[in-house]
Amino acid sequence: MECIEPRIPNPDTGYGKLVCMPKEPSERLSVLLPRARIARRVRELGRRISRDFRGERVLLVGVLKGACIFLSDLSREISLDATFDFLAAASYGQSSESSGQVRLVKDLDSSIEGRNVILVEDILDTGVTLNYLVAMLRRRRPKALKVAVLLDKAERRIQPVKVDYLGFKIPNQFVVGYGLDYAERHRNLKDVCVVKIQDEAKGQRSETIKKKARRQGSKKIGK
Ligand code: IMP
Ligand code: MG
Repeated sequence: MECIEPRIPNPDTGYGKLVCMPKEPSERLSVLLPRARIARRVRELGRRISRDFRGERVLLVGVLKGACIFLSDLSREISLDATFDFLAAASYGQSSESSGQVRLVKDLDSSIEGRNVILVEDILDTGVTLNYLVAMLRRRRPKALKVAVLLDKAERRIQPVKVDYLGFKIPNQFVVGYGLDYAERHRNLKDVCVVKIQDEAKGQRSETIKKKARRQGSKKIGK
């Protein structure tokens, strides 16, 4: 592990600057979405949700672990009576690419029947996970079911997912921070950053990182 001199990115202009956190020497982190930009967008989404559900209660359902920071910030921008619940999902199989099958690792604590549910997820990639979760929740007959996602890598989509509240469309690069991990690390970065490892910087495809992340333990569990 090394830690270089902190160079906190300028909140508005910090694109591409090196982020300084304890990191492996082979890793390069660069800011894709600075914290101030994320905060502005989350505020907008919170206002929209507050308008859409005016006078009603909402249940925010976070997908562990990646969505926890997005959910906590989003919830504080929602001026409604809001409660939280969480679930966790994992992909079946040993393949590093999505197997197309998902299983529930942790279920909700309470019934959602007749409630206004907002499913909150960190990132939409192939769409397999959210597709599964939306179908599962819909079968439980909520009054309304909406989907809030911070990041969308639309290029990677295999299964279509309707997103009601989207933060940002991003390119097909592996990102960490603001809840998102690489092998369980970097969730506590304040900015969303692109992570590259040395051989990756020399030209390998970004899937390499995802494969390594899974091999090293995140395996799409605890998103
Ligand atoms: P999907 O089922 O392929 O849409 O998988 C979405 C899940 O993959 C997310 O909840 C994340 O856990 C993980 N994921 C996809 N892309 C990234 C990334 O760039 N960084 C971190 N996790 C990612
Ligand atoms: Mg993850």
